[in-house]
Amino acid sequence: MFSLPKTATIIEVGPRDGLQNEARTVNTEDKLDFIKALQEAGLKEMELTSFVSPKWVPQMADARDIVAGAQKIGRQMVLTPNERGITSALEAGADSIAVFVGVTNSFNEKNINKTTAESMETLQPLIKKAKQDGIFVRACISTAFYCPFEGKIDPQRTIDLCRQFVDWGVDELSVADTIGLANPQESHELFSRLKEQFPEVLIAAHFHDTRRMALANAYAALIAGVDRFDASAGGLGGCPFAPGATGNVATEDLVHMFHRMGVDTGVDLEKLYEAISLIEPHVSNPLHTGMYTLYKNRK
Ligand code: HMG
Ligand code: MG
Repeated sequence: MFSLPKTATIIEVGPRDGLQNEARTVNTEDKLDFIKALQEAGLKEMELTSFVSPKWVPQMADARDIVAGAQKIGRQMVLTPNERGITSALEAGADSIAVFVGVTNSFNEKNINKTTAESMETLQPLIKKAKQDGIFVRACISTAFYCPFEGKIDPQRTIDLCRQFVDWGVDELSVADTIGLANPQESHELFSRLKEQFPEVLIAAHFHDTRRMALANAYAALIAGVDRFDASAGGLGGCPFAPGATGNVATEDLVHMFHRMGVDTGVDLEKLYEAISLIEPHVSNPLHTGMYTLYKNRK
């Protein structure tokens, strides 16, 4: 038997990763109701929204109102790619930011219109200043396993990029299988190496479930020592600039799996289903993850 942690933390990314790719416009009030219900279900860490160009990601155009309207419990993070985003986020009242960069230039150029090196040059002084100001900084690493344009990524490239962020003093690395192509062996290898090399930072695993391998990948990361997982209620989501990417691992399926293995998350599944049913009428497709479908069949 593998030894498992007694607890794991879920970082709910539904309001951000989940809704950024949504074809329908979701009202700010409906997003805020969803966020409140997720918090009431016990999800204390969340990516609330993104301070990005509304021309690039129209669904996140109400970022200021989301930060102003959301309860400040636990750790509520916002994505920010540049100085303008960080300034707006802090003015709106955010105290935790998430910067994001891809391991590959081709993905990063599509996502942020910069090469990876250009993004890193932009981010270094911003992270330094944020840390001086006592802001929590998470670094999201996209295309850590596979890139939609360049294929398989040598894990060493991901580790080298992570090292730069760790040297700059970030609090957390969120390492992403952006297009959901990684397998459990690759997950175990990369996360074992990251946990060994960067014991001083929090490490979260961020799996998209494109090929239904996210739960297996999460289990592989768990036994590699990871106890923080990004997940999206209802399995919503995907990056608009990563062709072929679907939603994140569903929070309800991950929580159910962990609880069945004796790993507590502090999340109340019944309340989580209620949160998902609040957002479901506002998104383009019915939500049918494993656990949520069972909940609907039971009603
Ligand atoms: P650009 O066109 O190169 O930048 O876009 P720019 O500086 O020329 O600005 C263009 C316009 O955007 C200007 O407005 C700026 O003022 C405005 P205009 O003069 O045309 O009216 N602008 C902003 N507005 C609001 N907030 C800002 C901001 N910055 C500039 N922060 C830029 C560069 C980074 C802005 C653009 O590429 C962008 O917004 N990209 C966002 C991409 C994105 O949000 N992707 C999804 C999130 S990442 C993800 O999902 C992956 C992750 O989940 C992990 C994984 O799964 O892999 C984290
Ligand atoms: Mg993502």
